[in-house]
Amino acid sequence: MRITMVGTGYVGLVTGTCFANTGNQVTCLDIDQSKIEKLNNGISPIYEPGLDELIGRNAKASRLHFTTDKSAAYKNAEIIFIAVGTPSGSDGRANLQYVLAAAQDIGDAIEASSDTREKIIVVKSTVPVGTNIKVQQAVASRTSKTFHMASNPEFLKEGAAINDFNKPDRVVIGAHTKYAADKMRDLYEPFVRQGNPIFIMDIPSAEMVKYASNCMLATKISFINEVANLCEQYGADISEVRRGMCSDKRIGNQFLYPGLGYGGSCFPKDVLAMISMGQDCGHPAELLESVHRVNQQQRDVFLTKLESHFEGADWSKLKIAVWGIAFKPGTDDVREAPSITLIQKLLEKGATVTAYDPVAHETAGEVLTDSITYANNAIEAINDADALIVCTDWSEFKNPEFELMKDKMATPVIFDGRNVYRRSTMREYGFVYHSVGRAPINEENAAV
Ligand code: UDX
Repeated sequence: MRITMVGTGYVGLVTGTCFANTGNQVTCLDIDQSKIEKLNNGISPIYEPGLDELIGRNAKASRLHFTTDKSAAYKNAEIIFIAVGTPSGSDGRANLQYVLAAAQDIGDAIEASSDTREKIIVVKSTVPVGTNIKVQQAVASRTSKTFHMASNPEFLKEGAAINDFNKPDRVVIGAHTKYAADKMRDLYEPFVRQGNPIFIMDIPSAEMVKYASNCMLATKISFINEVANLCEQYGADISEVRRGMCSDKRIGNQFLYPGLGYGGSCFPKDVLAMISMGQDCGHPAELLESVHRVNQQQRDVFLTKLESHFEGADWSKLKIAVWGIAFKPGTDDVREAPSITLIQKLLEKGATVTAYDPVAHETAGEVLTDSITYANNAIEAINDADALIVCTDWSEFKNPEFELMKDKMATPVIFDGRNVYRRSTMREYGFVYHSVGRAPINEENAAV
């Protein structure tokens, strides 16, 4: 099939590349000239394991093309995916300006095209329920020719996106015509050979599946963080509580790891968008409002632990090391990363911050001011530090040389925002240790 992907952001690029890899002819369109130049030189603008190689292979086979030229991109397309950004506005609502602008361009292209086949326009961007109709109207305002609409939400996890795309748990397609449903099913058939389902449903339901799924997962995280905070107050250990809960199959064991709260480009934005959808229709999403609040507070709850530990200290004399800036391991994405909030608050207090992340220094530099130092490796970051904060659970932080760490640090104090370490190990090595939902090991009980 001939596919055009509008938007070479994270979703558009992964989706377009994976479709090319099953033999489709894919043209990726973006307005950002420098991005397209990079891609045409075989350089991926994002860090995603396996993506560079897949782009290179499919571009070389002339199945994957990158362009800024709209008319060339739309000319022969059978299916056009809209995968442009939908950033949260200041009121939490998804900003649809890019989606609707793309819709108008597509309408113009359909009107100008001599191709007699009817085109399918697929909304891939995460958009509030009801957006598909707005897109349809925007296209129809520019052309009188027949076209088909579909909604096709994505469920890609950053860092595992290629695998998620190639072996999806499910594919969700919203379509109101048999033509669109059949074509979309054909397109996805190669990805569900192992028997996972393709669900064809009405368009509003497909749009809602995405929000409901992400909001459910975000709810699990805020729930476990709330329980973790209560564990601390009542002397329970969240790791034990978690184990006890998760063996109940109805509860399951995923997305119930406590920490600094969820970040990234999806959960915070999607929870806010669902809250706005509730407000707009007069049915406030009260549970999700709490989910969002708990998530925001989780960073402050953690900061309070540092504040009490350093009570009375002169913050301008404190050196704090941070391990991990990305919002989770396996990505250089720092959007809504808890690390950023924490670092900003530490800087406001006057502390000196040295951070290390295996891949996110460049992206962090775009968000943070120059006022932090980036270390070349994890050990360099903790040199002379009064405390270490573990913000992201990258594998390389899981089994460090604790003796060496103690030698390097000014004081052996760890604030573990991801519960990466065993309390018994921390006690054994004599660290002062604060984590999430577990009793601290402090000066009084640190000795073996
Ligand atoms: C998410 C969804 O998983 C994916 O289906 C959707 O398409 C996009 O949003 P992603 O943003 O890549 O994917 O991150 P994910 O791995 O889901 O993690 C989200 C956040 O939750 C991270 O900040 C992570 O650290 C946090 N998290 C996750 C927890 O704090 N605890 C957990 O138990 C799981």
